[in-house]
Amino acid sequence: MILVTGGAGFIGGNFVLDWLGNPSAEGVVNLDKLTYAGNLTTLQSLSSDTRHVFAHGDISNYELVLSLLKKHSIRAVVNFAAESHVDRSIHGPGDFIQTNVVGTFNLLEAVRAYWSDLPESEKKSFRFLHVSTDEVYGSLSPADPAFSETNPYEPNSPYSASKAASDHLVRAWHHTYGLPVLTTNCSNNYGPYHFPEKLIPLVILNALAGKPLPIYGDGQQIRDWLYVKDHCSAIRRVLEAGKLGETYNVGSWNEKPNLDVVHTICSILDSLRPKADGTSYASQITYVKDRPGHDRRYAIDATKLERELGWKPAETFETGIRKTVQWYLDNQGWTNGVLSGSYRDWVQKQYSNPTDQ
Ligand code: NAD
Ligand code: DAU
Repeated sequence: MILVTGGAGFIGGNFVLDWLGNPSAEGVVNLDKLTYAGNLTTLQSLSSDTRHVFAHGDISNYELVLSLLKKHSIRAVVNFAAESHVDRSIHGPGDFIQTNVVGTFNLLEAVRAYWSDLPESEKKSFRFLHVSTDEVYGSLSPADPAFSETNPYEPNSPYSASKAASDHLVRAWHHTYGLPVLTTNCSNNYGPYHFPEKLIPLVILNALAGKPLPIYGDGQQIRDWLYVKDHCSAIRRVLEAGKLGETYNVGSWNEKPNLDVVHTICSILDSLRPKADGTSYASQITYVKDRPGHDRRYAIDATKLERELGWKPAETFETGIRKTVQWYLDNQGWTNGVLSGSYRDWVQKQYSNPTDQ
């Protein structure tokens, strides 16, 4: 089996669903703390799939991680677990240091203890894949080339600094202990099951609810958008064929200013779900105070991943954003659960006495 951490979150949830969508895939042990961002309703379709084993717990819990690795004879770990929202990191950085730095350290130590005791052939084929972000490279000026794997780290927010720290730990565990690690640094993901604190799902749901669409500052900050299922296929490819100790940037060449993204969403909604009063959803756009330390531009150069491992994204931004808007229109049960908080009630009921498996 493989161990996925943070598999009840946005990208981890999509990854688990995609992985188990292959009938011949190995099983998944899914370790997740179920913070506000963890949502088991995302994984509801797996409720009778015995290849999915959910374990409620923290990557910081060394004993728990070690016991899961041993019990399920894990052959690879994919680490998604993290605090992931930049604005939350500005309001309260403590949880980011605890999970992203201390948690990654404890996870690495448990994995190292397990891996050290494996027979030689299993030791060789074992993999630890760490999922990271382009934000570790800092912010680009308009004329700068896109981030490549050799860009220096210049994280600017508490979130990106904590992710940069975790990347350094992963690198050091390879260099010093020989742990077979791989790191991916990807750009902004979007797609199904995205928690509506992030720009794209927030704008879709606020638009439908008749609420303001908040644009930080002048809305000209640039992000490079990657459809989440393309990210999942890249991770599978790196896990399968990546060179040990290497990092791979993942992106799909879709740089867009935030304001353009919001206008695109509004015009898709205008055609799929026109407003009764005939106005455009764009009339709900509202400029609000900028994010402190807001990075101006991210862009990912994914040439290495394409050249060395033959990976290519399947979606353009135009196809991916249309699918995403349609998904939110078609899955109001999921979104209502998130907006009302009822997904948390269920988690509370089910896991009030954590049963680590
Ligand atoms: P998310 O916030 O949606 O999900 C994070 C998941 O991790 C949640 O299910 C949460 O319950 C779980 N978790 C948090 N702390 C934990 C802990 N201590 N132990 C176990 N589980 C814990 O995040 P996401 O957007 O799915 O991001 C996944 C990973 O990808 C993160 O490492 C993030 O830094 C990275 N990343 C995200 C993006 C993006 O655009 N979303 C882009 C680049 C990199
Ligand atoms: O680049 C990868 C990163 O992308 C990941 O590492 C992070 O986990 C992920 O959250 C994301 O970070 P961003 O800060 O880029 O994503 P967010 O959706 O929060 O914001 C996208 C852009 O939109 C950013 O420039 C801020 C802006 N924004 C965001 C929100 C929530 C607004 O203008 N208004 C908003 O209400």
